[in-house]
Amino acid sequence: MSRVRPIVERMHGYVPGEQPQGGRVVKLNTNENPYPPAPGAVEAARAAVSADLRLYPEPSARPLREEAARVYGVRPEQVLAGNGSDELLTMLMRAVVGPDDVVVYPEPTYSLYDTLVTIQEGRALTIPFPDDFTLPPALFAAEGRLMMICNPNAPSGSLTPIATIGELARGFDGVVAVDEAYVDFAPPGSSALPLLAGHDNVVVLRTFSKSFSLAGMRIGLLFGHADLLAEIAKVKDSYNLNRVAIAAGAAALGEVEWMERNVARITATRARLSERLAGLGYDVLPSAANFVLARRSGEDQAPVQAALRTRGVLVRHFATDRLRDALRISVGTEDETDRLLAELAAIRVGR
Ligand SMILES: Cc1ncc(COP(=O)(O)O)c(C=O)c1O
Repeated sequence: MSRVRPIVERMHGYVPGEQPQGGRVVKLNTNENPYPPAPGAVEAARAAVSADLRLYPEPSARPLREEAARVYGVRPEQVLAGNGSDELLTMLMRAVVGPDDVVVYPEPTYSLYDTLVTIQEGRALTIPFPDDFTLPPALFAAEGRLMMICNPNAPSGSLTPIATIGELARGFDGVVAVDEAYVDFAPPGSSALPLLAGHDNVVVLRTFSKSFSLAGMRIGLLFGHADLLAEIAKVKDSYNLNRVAIAAGAAALGEVEWMERNVARITATRARLSERLAGLGYDVLPSAANFVLARRSGEDQAPVQAALRTRGVLVRHFATDRLRDALRISVGTEDETDRLLAELAAIRVGR
């Protein structure tokens, strides 16, 4: 397995145990939500911590799946629950991709896809995004077992219209997986869920880690045709979600308005952050997610990331040719955003 970089290092750029806790650290490097989860979700989690923990959870997380089916207008058989959407991505790859099978996706995108394809001994057919991060035309002619579309894409924040994803799905023989970790931060009507009705090769992944403020609870959902989901469920751990997560996730879905209020605050801050970063000389891609990609063309941002870190502000930098001159910055609270902007301005003046 030496070909595979440790997932924690790959995801966050830090080694376990090194993560700064509390204090004055402003953590804008992993796209968490700066606002708390719905009170009902916290209450449900607390209530689930009882003597009943001696019992195994419902193996398919049925209460959570039923609530998701109600909220998203599908049948419970069309919903699979995971220990975070990362687990669902793993299950999808294990179920669909074998040695030498081709997995197609535009790049740069969510780096876990590369790792999972390598683990499966599959072959990644990556097609570079153009500079404006619209889908590359070659994607529409690609063939493979699985196509991954991260929408909105990470780390660009760019959004592909659902009609374009429908076109891709109609022209592709394999499974098209739309990773919608950030779709709640995009304009209404951006989700590919309506495509499920007419396309049995489409699956949609959602997470509770971003818009629902429950990253620590580890909850993800995968939507798709019941037959395809039954195949994917064959590689599922028997009890992949614990009792507390099932209760919290179901309760969070009962308070969608709370999540939407947090999303509204974050998208307002995103607009201000983008504008202020432009004022500091960054090119900021329009973002439909809870982060922005800010670039200074040709100028390595690794030292800027390091300087911010020294000042207690964590942002994400990718040491790849395509992204070296960019920082990915999560949208925090108004105060966190002010702090980031102040530190960044101070660093830039000193350079
Ligand atoms: C595009 C994308 N998909 C999936 C995930 C994983 O989310 P989860 O916390 O549900 O495993 C992330 C997390 O950052 C992400 O950026």
